[in-house]
Amino acid sequence: MFLYIYAMSKTISLLNFKGGVGKTTSTYNIGYYLATQGYKVLLIDADAQFNLTQMAAADQTSSLYRILKKQSVVSPHKIADNFYIIPSSLELIKADIELSGQIHREYILDKALRRIKKNFDFVLIDCAPSLGLTTVNAIFTSDLIFVPIEAEYLSLTGYSVLTEALDNIDYEIDKVFITKYDSRKVLNRSVKDSIFDKLGPNAFQTPIRQNVALAEAPTSSQSIFEYAPDSNGAKDYESLTKEIIKEYG
Ligand SMILES: Nc1ncnc2c1ncn2[C@@H]1O[C@H](COP(=O)(O)OP(=O)(O)OP(=O)(O)O)[C@@H](O)[C@H]1O
Ligand SMILES: [Mg+2]
Repeated sequence: MFLYIYAMSKTISLLNFKGGVGKTTSTYNIGYYLATQGYKVLLIDADAQFNLTQMAAADQTSSLYRILKKQSVVSPHKIADNFYIIPSSLELIKADIELSGQIHREYILDKALRRIKKNFDFVLIDCAPSLGLTTVNAIFTSDLIFVPIEAEYLSLTGYSVLTEALDNIDYEIDKVFITKYDSRKVLNRSVKDSIFDKLGPNAFQTPIRQNVALAEAPTSSQSIFEYAPDSNGAKDYESLTKEIIKEYG
């Protein structure tokens, strides 16, 4: 007897209220690697800073703001084979206030994506470092929450704050992964160990090392796999994404 297992589309928010931890860098490079492995990937830039949109060199038509405001239909921009983005723009900064009086305001994105999610294997949402209405919309359309975290003492406090905020809306963190890791730093090593101890299976095993190529790649609108395929950054994002595929692919 044959068993057919249909792959389900998975929507994942990359979330941390702390800024600069690598949410955008991770969204782009994980998404790119998944696309090279044959998965159809949609990125959503849910941050008014539109860094992900810049990384993808995407224009800002059919932006998330216009979708949330129902001024535009969902029409993802193609970055590469299997690789698409719904871009952001500075005007997204107005969305939280403008939508605050609307009924079912937390589910606008979920409703907008309902028809197109099935066309993708993975939808990755790059969240802003705050819990505004746009972030809540991202969370409420997600199956999974991934949290990039630096192996520093204060990150653990941030992690508790995030856990509590998500608990208030009946969500929880599914996975944490370490970013900007420097094994020469004693503190980085000891915090990494305590993250692994404390979180067990809720932590991915691959730490993303501190790697200058990861910071340089966006200047040429490239993923790390195109910009510096032999770099530690490329090795680490490949290994992390393989963990993701193993568990959720
Ligand atoms: N592993 C790394 N090694 C070196 N630099 C990195 C690494 N990851 C990210 N960076 C750099 O750190 C900065 C912040 O990263 P990124 O923009 O991905 O974080 P973020 O969490 O999305 O920030 P924000 O909260 O502002 O949206 C960027 O300049 C990026 O290029
Ligand atoms: Mg970002």
